[in-house]
Amino acid sequence: MSKPRLLVARAVFPETLARLEQHFEVEHNQADAAWSKQDLIARLRGKAGAFTTGTERIDAEVLAACPELKVCANMAVGYNNFDVPAMTAKGVLATNTPDVLTETTADFGFALLMATARRIAESEHYLRAGKWTKWSYDMFAGAEVHGSTLGILGMGRIGQGIARRGAHGFGMNVIYHNRSWLSPDLEAACRARYVSKDELLMTADHVVLVLPYSAESHHTIGAAELAKMKPTATLVNIARGGIVDDAALAQALRDKRIAAAGLDVFEGEPKVHPDLLTVPNVVLTPHIASATVPTRRAMADLAADNLIGFLVNGKPLTPLNPEVLT
Ligand code: GLV
Repeated sequence: MSKPRLLVARAVFPETLARLEQHFEVEHNQADAAWSKQDLIARLRGKAGAFTTGTERIDAEVLAACPELKVCANMAVGYNNFDVPAMTAKGVLATNTPDVLTETTADFGFALLMATARRIAESEHYLRAGKWTKWSYDMFAGAEVHGSTLGILGMGRIGQGIARRGAHGFGMNVIYHNRSWLSPDLEAACRARYVSKDELLMTADHVVLVLPYSAESHHTIGAAELAKMKPTATLVNIARGGIVDDAALAQALRDKRIAAAGLDVFEGEPKVHPDLLTVPNVVLTPHIASATVPTRRAMADLAADNLIGFLVNGKPLTPLNPEVLT
């Protein structure tokens, strides 16, 4: 019997590719060429499955052009690159990689918070530029982290991981806002208190964004929200570009409306708003929050397991639209 045909849309670990090749007839992109939507469609035609990352958009146009497609496995927990209702309507299964990256991503969220509050990138650039000629009492004096108020917008698994780090490791007063309240048990484990979005913006010393991107969360933080934050506050975005209005943020940073920001995700990435590149009080990283070797391997394995689980054994591990299975 011939093997199902699979497209691996981006470069992956050679071991992942070798594993997929045991089960599928694979077309891959180990050269990691940038494909247009038309390139993606041309390669996806006739394939039963796709191994994707957050950079391939699977929408109604792609689905209409690829009627043989049965499953797309995203190597990411976020899946705003999938039009899940359109996939469900066409009977195409969508899967993501939850859980395996939670703690690693929470580590990074906390690292970015620390780097932002304590001005690590800014001071490192200063030193490298040969500008450090003497010590002074207020040189790169930043914001306190321990004992301060941590506000988390979006309290899913990663948000809870950041809350636990803040509360237990740094004695922070943790407040959160989310579509729904956590159970009392989870609130106790995170030592976190539910507040309105306005209260969070107005009282937090450090605001961390960990909410999923959708039409509703577009520009959750814009000029009006930045104006509500304390002038000493910091903002960290490890969620998705588009949740923050990057132009408004650059302006707020330039005007010192808030003290500093740490961004791992950007509107229109890998392009970065040019104004963000010129303000000193922002730490910029290229969407690497889940990037440790063991975690990226676990994500790749889970995406592969979903494809093998579904196309070979009929049982995906982490389906996003399980209704297509019935
Ligand atoms: C990364 O951004 C992910 O969603 O896994």
